[in-house]
Amino acid sequence: MSSNAETKVAIRDLYKIFGADAAAMTDRVRDGMSKDDLLEAHGHVLGLKNINLDVAAHHIQVVMGLSGSGKSTLIRHINRLIEPTAGSVVVDGADVLGMTQQELREFRRSKASMVFQRFALMPHRTVADNVSYGLRVQGLDKAECAERSRRWIDRVGLTGYEDYYTTQLSGGMQQRVGLARALATDAEILLMDEPFSALDPLIRTDMQDILLDLQTELHKTIVFITHDLEEALRLGNNIAILRDGEAVQIGTPQDIVMRPADDYVADFIKDINRGRAIEVGSIMDAESANGAPQIDAATVLDDALQSLIGTGAEVASVTRDGKPVGSVRLERIASAMARPD
Ligand SMILES: Nc1ncnc2c1ncn2[C@@H]1O[C@H](COP(=O)(O)OP(=O)(O)O)[C@@H](O)[C@H]1O
Ligand SMILES: [Mg+2]
Repeated sequence: MSSNAETKVAIRDLYKIFGADAAAMTDRVRDGMSKDDLLEAHGHVLGLKNINLDVAAHHIQVVMGLSGSGKSTLIRHINRLIEPTAGSVVVDGADVLGMTQQELREFRRSKASMVFQRFALMPHRTVADNVSYGLRVQGLDKAECAERSRRWIDRVGLTGYEDYYTTQLSGGMQQRVGLARALATDAEILLMDEPFSALDPLIRTDMQDILLDLQTELHKTIVFITHDLEEALRLGNNIAILRDGEAVQIGTPQDIVMRPADDYVADFIKDINRGRAIEVGSIMDAESANGAPQIDAATVLDDALQSLIGTGAEVASVTRDGKPVGSVRLERIASAMARPD
């Protein structure tokens, strides 16, 4: 994951206000009027306020927040299912707001495709039909559709189920069909609005694994919405946290966990399993520790502790791509695992 990755989606100064006279309300919001006051005094709903977000190509950008914080409103701006009250959305250098209806249709089909919650499967069609649907819409010929959908059905572990109706499958299997369908369509950007939120925890973890596994091959640009912090930390290369339509923090999972921007974020992360969330690279010292046992910077604290205790050493040399980048002491690992006050 390089920090100078190319920007795929650039969202600038984005405002969305719902109501009859939205444009006239923008200055009030700019001047600091709260969501509650805007509703009370003017009967308008603040959807988004001054959002600036660069989504890096080939990364998973998570958008997290409580219900009503503006997550769906934000993601729907990316393919212009919603028009902003102010601001801009640029995808691969193209201004989404400047597109004609024709261009927009093409854009939604081949560039940025929306994956809805529960994936909106067609119940009276087979698994194969569901997966190849998006491909047929793209105008691929029959043989090519069949070949590609077979490949994706295999990748999500559903070979043998091609001719089943989706209603004959368990919830978890239906999710796999949906994922295969979304991935089969070659769109470079996947917009995923809480795709796993309705799933029970085991199936959900399973789906996260499949998505991460596929992403190592596909390198899609994914904007993934969740209200679940564990899911956000697990999937996101970067996380934007929304509150009442505002981005309160945008950063890597390590940024969010180590340096919460305010009390709201701090409160959000206070119950996470720090031993599984924090990486050694986030707590290391710059000094090297020659001859000490080596631990990769991306190792989580639980695992680092385990391996350090196993060696009997007090200090480890921290490496990135095999090269020493610093060191970490046993007691530092232990104190970082303890919950801050
Ligand atoms: N079409 C709409 N008209 C009025 N208010 C809306 C509309 N869509 C969303 N909102 C409001 O905008 C805010 C953000 O909603 P939404 O983006 O759906 O949140 P989330 O996806 O985070 O749950 C909420 O207060 C919601 O009630
Ligand atoms: Mg939503």
